[in-house]
Amino acid sequence: MALKPWYDVVKPREDLREGKPLDASEFAVHLDKVRDGSAPPVYSRPDEFFERTFLTANLKDLATQVVRRLSGVKVETSAVFNLSTQFGGGKTHALTLLYHLATHGDAAKNWKGVSTILANANVPAVSKAATAVFVGTEFDSISGRGGSDGTPMRKTPWDEIAFQLGGVDAFRLVEEHEKLLTAPGGDVIERMLPVDKPALILVDELMNYISRTRKSGLAGQLYTFVHNLSEVARSRNNVVLAVSIPASELEMNAEDQSDFDRFKKLLDRLGRAMIMSAETETSEIVRRRLFEWSSLPKEAIPTIDAYEHRFQSNKSQIPDWFPVEQSRELLKTSYPFHPSVLSVFQRKWQGLPRFQQTRAVLRPPRAVGVGSLRGWLQRRAQGLADLTRHGAAWRSGVSHRRVRAVG
Ligand SMILES: Nc1ncnc2c1ncn2[C@@H]1O[C@H](COP(=O)(O)OP(=O)(O)OP(=O)(O)O)[C@@H](O)[C@H]1O
Ligand SMILES: [Mg+2]
Repeated sequence: MALKPWYDVVKPREDLREGKPLDASEFAVHLDKVRDGSAPPVYSRPDEFFERTFLTANLKDLATQVVRRLSGVKVETSAVFNLSTQFGGGKTHALTLLYHLATHGDAAKNWKGVSTILANANVPAVSKAATAVFVGTEFDSISGRGGSDGTPMRKTPWDEIAFQLGGVDAFRLVEEHEKLLTAPGGDVIERMLPVDKPALILVDELMNYISRTRKSGLAGQLYTFVHNLSEVARSRNNVVLAVSIPASELEMNAEDQSDFDRFKKLLDRLGRAMIMSAETETSEIVRRRLFEWSSLPKEAIPTIDAYEHRFQSNKSQIPDWFPVEQSRELLKTSYPFHPSVLSVFQRKWQGLPRFQQTRAVLRPPRAVGVGSLRGWLQRRAQGLADLTRHGAAWRSGVSHRRVRAVG
């Protein structure tokens, strides 16, 4: 029996089918842009965002704890989270997921995966929370935010967060602290938080801000602020702080590294360290970003059977690093890609300092897609070989020198 080609089994997402221009920003989530609504719909429209999200075990755990805590439950929840990634990305994606949940409350119940989160959290609905977003790569303490648009000028993380949580009234509480570049203490933070509803504070790319504000002393005060805010969040039953600190190791000097360690230690001590995705989960993330995917289609099974048979009957020719005995599982988790395709990115390229993990894993097939997928679908004649032929288009994820080094 002839095997069905992948393009008759899985359907690429509409933007790939239409050959819409490749926009690198689609592979990077910007929390500030999600907040102001200018991010691409896949990130800013919560229903679409949840549709394409794969709830990794830890993402589910994080969402469950946050939803539970925002509902006022202190048991089996943490108030502070320090997000990191081991294989693949997902920090900003996780913060975005929390943002959508907390800003929509009960309206979130119909999005994909939310019923599972609610069931795990054992609460009837998502509680709407006052939500603040601070993105270290965006906020500039010299030029500040606001001032000319009718909102008060904000120049420190604390007055920006206060303003987002409670408007001008909350801002006034830390106005003086802003002028003196001094972090507020717990008493003031208590008053800065809303009394009548939960609060969620999301912080991304913290290291970038720390690095830029070390000279002015603001970075030191930020450490104190994060410390005090964490303590207040822990003492309350419906306040959550989720932080992502990382910067690329390549971009860190010795002072950055020492600050990084200090912040990490603080957050891990006062909260929970969460690794957002495991290696085995990356292919599931990639499939959802590229295809209209919910689960492995039945029509894929004969192809998986055939490949498994081939692996098993040619064992002696297969390199040692490929676990032939797990080939069936691997084929199932990587379809429509050959297991080696994604595994090359995970095993070899993620060791490269400039390789941007999930984002870069997403880029190759996507780049091939824009350039040629429509052609593939029209001609229905080519296969994975195109990946290698169009390779040059996606090597931009790493430097050429380094590609040669591993090649
Ligand atoms: N669980 C997931 N489900 C679906 N897509 C995901 C998931 N996790 C990450 N992604 C996608 O993978 C890409 C990279 O993720 P993200 O931007 O969150 O990584 P990051 O850890 O913030 O990376 P960086 O350190 O470069 O900021 C994004 O396109 C994101 O939407
Ligand atoms: Mg990020």
